[in-house]
Amino acid sequence: MKIHGSNTSLLDCAGDAIAIGLFENEINLVGELDQLNRRTEGTLQELIDETRFEGKLGCIVATRVGSSAPIRKILLIGLGKSEEFTLNSLRSNIASITRFWKKEHIKTLCLQFPIFDNNSSLTTEIIVEGLLLSLHQDNRFKSNSEDKILELQTINILGVGEQVEAINRAQIVCSGVIMARELVNAPANYINPITFAKVAEELANEYNLEIEILERDECVKLGMGAFLGVAQASDLPPKFIHLTYKPESIPERKIAIVGKSLTFDSGGLNLKGSSSGIEVMKMDMGGGAATLGVAKAIAQLKPNVEVHFICAVTENMISGCAIHPGDILTASNGKTIEVNNTDAEGRLTLADALIFAEKLKVDVILDIATLTGACVVALGDNISGLWSTDNNLINEIKTASEKSGEQFWQMPMEDKYFESLKSPIADMKNTGPRAAGAITAALFLKQFVEKTPWLHLDIAGTAWIDKENGVNNFGATGVPVRTLVNWLVK
Ligand code: BES
Ligand code: MN
Ligand code: ZN
Repeated sequence: MKIHGSNTSLLDCAGDAIAIGLFENEINLVGELDQLNRRTEGTLQELIDETRFEGKLGCIVATRVGSSAPIRKILLIGLGKSEEFTLNSLRSNIASITRFWKKEHIKTLCLQFPIFDNNSSLTTEIIVEGLLLSLHQDNRFKSNSEDKILELQTINILGVGEQVEAINRAQIVCSGVIMARELVNAPANYINPITFAKVAEELANEYNLEIEILERDECVKLGMGAFLGVAQASDLPPKFIHLTYKPESIPERKIAIVGKSLTFDSGGLNLKGSSSGIEVMKMDMGGGAATLGVAKAIAQLKPNVEVHFICAVTENMISGCAIHPGDILTASNGKTIEVNNTDAEGRLTLADALIFAEKLKVDVILDIATLTGACVVALGDNISGLWSTDNNLINEIKTASEKSGEQFWQMPMEDKYFESLKSPIADMKNTGPRAAGAITAALFLKQFVEKTPWLHLDIAGTAWIDKENGVNNFGATGVPVRTLVNWLVK
C-alpha cells in the first residue's frame, strides 16, 4: 500500500473515493467544497440534506457521484465540535472510516482532514497510524483467501505537504504494533517458547540486533529457580531471550524492557476454570510480544539509547512434574518464594528476568505484563495500570502516552500491603488475598529490583479486547508499543 501526503486540491483529486472531515456546525459548503458541489451537480449538498448530516462525531455518510467527476464516491465524516477536537477523536474517526470502506472495494482514496494544533506532521502521523492499525486484520488462520484480499492500494492525504518522514515513522511504529498483535493472536500451538525464540532470532538477524538465548541449563547455572519452577511442567524447553539494540554513538542512557512471556497460562495445578478465560490465555505473552514489537520499531528508528529487551519465555502447564502449590522456589538473587498459588506464575518468571536486567547496570527498568485479573477489575480494558518507584519515569511515560492515545493510570505502591505476602516458612509468598491483588503483584516484583528506577505496567485488561472499541479490532491491541516507542524516540 502506498501512502503519501500532498497539497493537491480537493478539486484535483482523482481516484475511487474522497473522505472529507467536517466539524459540527461548520458544514456550509464554501470555497473548494462549494466548487466540488457544483462540479457534482449539487450532489454534495443533497447528501447533507438527505442524510441530515450535521457533522456529529462518528457520523459518516457517503454518496456516489456521477461519472463527470474524477472520483467515484464522496464520504463526509463528522468530527464533532471543533473545540473538542483531540488526537483521540481524530484517531477514532480514521478507524471508523476504515470500517466503513472495508467492504466498498476502494483502491485509491484521498483524505482531507483539519490539521490538529497547526501540526501537519503530527496530524499525518496520527492519520497514517489510524489507517494502518484499523486496516490490519489478522487472517493468517483463515483458509478462505477471499478474506485476505485488501483492495486499498493508494492513499493520498491532502493539505499536509509531502510528510515523507512522518509517514515513514508511522509505518515503522505500526510494524512494531502489528508484530506484537500477531504474536498475541497466534494461539499457543503456533507461538510456544521455541517459535517465540525463533521470531526473536529472525528479528535480530533482520535488524542487526545482538541476541543471546539462554537454554534451560544456562538458566540453572544462573540460579533462576523461580522462572524454571514455572517452566518445569511444560514439554517444551524454556527460552530466556536477551536482545540488545546499541546506537552507533555513545548512548544517552541504558534501558531494559522486560516482558512477561507466558505463551500459555493454564494456571498450573491451581488450574484456571473456563470462567477465568483459560481459552484466551495465549495472550499471556502480551508483554513479551510488545517487547519484541518495540524492538522492531527501535531497530528501524535508531534512537540514541541502548535498549535491552528481555523475555523469559515458557508455558504454565500441568503434569506430574509441575510445581505443587506450597512448593518453595529460590530466585537468582537467593530470595525464597512459597508458591501458594501456581496461577500467580507471571511474577515468578519476572522475578528472575528483573534480577537479570538489573545486573546489566541499566539506568531504567520497565516491565510489561498481563499480570493480574485484579487490574482488569480495577481499570477495565482501556486503561493499563502503572506502578513506579520513580516520579521522573512516571512523567516520561505519561507524556509519551499523550501522543499515543494509549491510557495508563498510576496505582499506589503501598508498601504496607506487602505484609499480606509474608510467609511463615519462606521469604515471601507469591500471592496475597483477593483485595488489592494488582498492587500486591507489583509489590512482589519490587522485591526483585534493588536500586534501579523501575516502572511496571499491568496490561492484563488492555492487551486484548473481545469487542471493537473504536480504534482496535477484535483481538490483540499491541498495547503499549506506541507509547514506549514515543518514549524512546523523541
Ligand atoms: N495471566 C494471568 C492474569 C490475567 C488475567 C491476564 C486476565 C489476562 C487476563 C495471571 O497469571 C494470573 O493468573 N493471575 C492471577 C493471580 C492470582 C492467582 C493471585 C489472577 O489474576 O487471578
Ligand atoms: Mn496465571
Ligand atoms: Zn499469567
